[in-house]
Amino acid sequence: MRSVTKQTITQAFLDYCADGTDPRLKFVLESLVGHLHDFARETELTHAEWRKGIELLTKAGEISTPERNEFILLSDVLGLSSLVDMVHSPDDATNSSVLGPFHILGAPDLPVGGDLKQDNDGPTVAVSGRVTDKAGQPIEGAVLEIWQTADNGLYSNQDASQPDYNLRCRMTVGADGRYAFTTVRPAPYTVPDDGPVGELLHATGRHPWRPSHLHFIVVAEGYRTLVTEVFPDDDPWLDQDAVFGVREDLVMHYREQSDPAAAPAGLEAANRLTNPYYTVDFDFVLAAET
Ligand code: BEZ
Ligand code: FE
Repeated sequence: MRSVTKQTITQAFLDYCADGTDPRLKFVLESLVGHLHDFARETELTHAEWRKGIELLTKAGEISTPERNEFILLSDVLGLSSLVDMVHSPDDATNSSVLGPFHILGAPDLPVGGDLKQDNDGPTVAVSGRVTDKAGQPIEGAVLEIWQTADNGLYSNQDASQPDYNLRCRMTVGADGRYAFTTVRPAPYTVPDDGPVGELLHATGRHPWRPSHLHFIVVAEGYRTLVTEVFPDDDPWLDQDAVFGVREDLVMHYREQSDPAAAPAGLEAANRLTNPYYTVDFDFVLAAET
């Protein structure tokens, strides 16, 4: 098209893509560019504002490393990561939530009932529940990967004072679908806010806090892998998670206990529980693979 105008540029873009051979790429890109053009027209975006946006993306590239991906963080704080999760969450199964940047491969195995807390300071929590299908039938052999922060709000790969793989494990459930472990109550923490995403948060009057949570990946043959997190109902940041990860069904209750008999059966640390301690029940429902 020789004479492109504000109104015809979007159609011109679509025409340029007419020979694309990947239909999904074509569909997604055309929609994205259509919305970008609408955005620029609607906001009457200035050159200075456009340059600021480009600067943000440039700084995100500069600060990113294999361990820190500022573009994922940008997607997280804009709500895009959570929206992609929600668009693909199956009905009647446990909702997924953001993976976050602190997951690492190779966590050690812990038997059902094992003690993840070890020498970590802080309140003890006994976490237990079942992994089932949508009909409530236990899924034998499901593997849970679990990771969390220590009492200081840091993950082991952010904090040189913690042993490697501190507060990380893999647990395989038996025929009853049951999992259980003792751990330390995780603490709320902030997403990294020392880069361009932090600048954006602060410039828009936002805070970088996430409510405390336990991360889980639940894998079972024949089922959709579930990447999720669970949050306590009394966390002060529950209703303002900086990355929009909280869903109604992912909120659980820490029950304060002073009687050791209230602990789930078969805990390795049963005779080391100091009062008060907490119990949490949380079941995972997996959707069948389609
Ligand atoms: C996390 O839960 O570990 C996390 C998620 C998104 C951004 C930063 C951290
Ligand atoms: Fe996290």
